[in-house]
This record gives sequence, structure tokens and C-alpha cells, in this order.
Amino acid sequence: MKIYKSIEEFNSYKDNLHDLTFVPTMGNLHKGHISLINFAKKFKTGIIATIFVNKLQFNDKSDYQNYPKTLDEDIDLLEKHGCDHLLIPDDSILDNIDQISASSKATKLCGMSRPGHFDGVLTILNKFFEIIEPQSVIFGKKDYQQLILVKEFVEKKDLNISIIGCDTVRERSGLALSSRNNLLSREEKLLAPLINKTLEQLKNKKNKLNKSLLIKKAKYLSSKGFIVDYIEACDTESLEETFEIDKKDILIAIAAKLGNVRLIDNILLQKL
Ligand code: PAF
Repeated sequence: MKIYKSIEEFNSYKDNLHDLTFVPTMGNLHKGHISLINFAKKFKTGIIATIFVNKLQFNDKSDYQNYPKTLDEDIDLLEKHGCDHLLIPDDSILDNIDQISASSKATKLCGMSRPGHFDGVLTILNKFFEIIEPQSVIFGKKDYQQLILVKEFVEKKDLNISIIGCDTVRERSGLALSSRNNLLSREEKLLAPLINKTLEQLKNKKNKLNKSLLIKKAKYLSSKGFIVDYIEACDTESLEETFEIDKKDILIAIAAKLGNVRLIDNILLQKL
């Protein structure tokens, strides 16, 4: 795997690179990221990953400062799993960066409590797209809202890039893999799978889906110690609230905190 520690270093090599499949990350890699690398292999192109903890997308300074960093292990993992190129820029990538404003979909779900978060995500991704010029970019569906916003951004800007979503990888307990799981205490780690359990229960009751059922589930999670940010049923494209499962597929998305650790997850319910 070739490692580039600056944009300049990458640019000096770029003429040798074509048709790249790109896996953007903030490091602290786990099996979820590796599943993205493995998915990227299907394209039979060169694979490039980035590791950059993007301060523009953090609302909370301490969340940014505490974001787990495991660079040596990340490099080993990427190498072991067949990533070809790794770009690790420093904060100078943010100098004079074009600020991107996400669409109004960014104000829903996670955007309600993380204003500006998706502007920060799109701002850094736009920069990476300019530098890397990838053919395809792979994202995890755990960050469903991010995936939708990136797809929309690429379409609106008419960029010739395929945006691909990969299924969420879970622990045996059902807990969605996330770098933030490393910040959970032992007790919190035992509670965290309740988020996925709640989503599965809602899937099993999808023919009775309504607001009061979601409120009941939120109260249950609160009673177990979660600080629930939202549990929402929404349209898979517009992210507008809907319960019309007889007419279309519906996304159920949850964000909840255990202690200081914010966890998100979602499930897609097929139309009845
Ligand atoms: O999903 C993430 O890890 C980040 O939002 C991303 C896409 C790497 C942008 O910083």
C-alpha cells in the first residue's frame, strides 16, 4: 500500500492513478470499514482510503478531541485487506477550502441536534473528490443520512462519481460497529445493543407502525439509561416523517446517547 502524507505528495503521483474506488474514513478502523474495502474490490480498480478526522463536522469540541486515533493499527489493517493507496492529509487540507452547504435534508434526523455537521461532511468530501477524482465512493448505510446527502450533492453538481452504500456490519449482539463503541464503558456496551433490538422489534410490528409506538420505544430506551435524540420513521429519500408503510419502504432511524457517546442506527422496512 502506498501512503501519501500530504496532498502535494499525492498529486505528484496522481498521473499514475486511474479509476480509483474511494473509501473515506476518519480512522480507528474496524470490520465495518474493512467491509467497505472488501466491497471496493468488486470494482477491480485501485482502492484508495483516506484517514482524516475532520474537525468541520464536529459540533462538540471534546467529541473531536476524544475521537479515537489508532493510525498504526489502521495502516496494518488496510494493508492486510488489500487497500492500494492511503492518503493521510493534515489540517492544512482545510486551508481556503470551499464551504459546502448541505440541502434542507441536513436539518432532519441527526441535523436537528448537530447543526452544520453535514455541511462539514460535504465540505471535506468535496475536497477529497477534487483531489482524488474517484470513479466510485463507498459509504456505510449506518450513516444513512450522510449517504443520501452525498448522493444528492453528487447528482446536483453533476459529478461523474458513483456513490455506493454498503450494509451495516454488526457485532453478534446486533450493535452496529462504530469507532465510538470504543468509548463505551462495560456497562454501556451491554446496553447499547438495545438500539438494534428496538429497530428489530419495530420491523416485526411494521403493520402497526405509528407515532405512539415510536414514542413508547423512546420512553423504553430512556428508562434503560439512554438519552434519546430521536426515533423517526421517514421516507427513504426525502427523510420526511411518514408512516405509510402500505405505500412505500420506510426508514426507521435512531440516535441516542449512552453517557457521552452518541450512537446511531437504522433499519429499512419493506413496503407491506
Ligand atoms: O463517515 C465518516 O467517517 C465521515 O463522515 C467521512 C465520510 C469520512 C467524512 O469525514
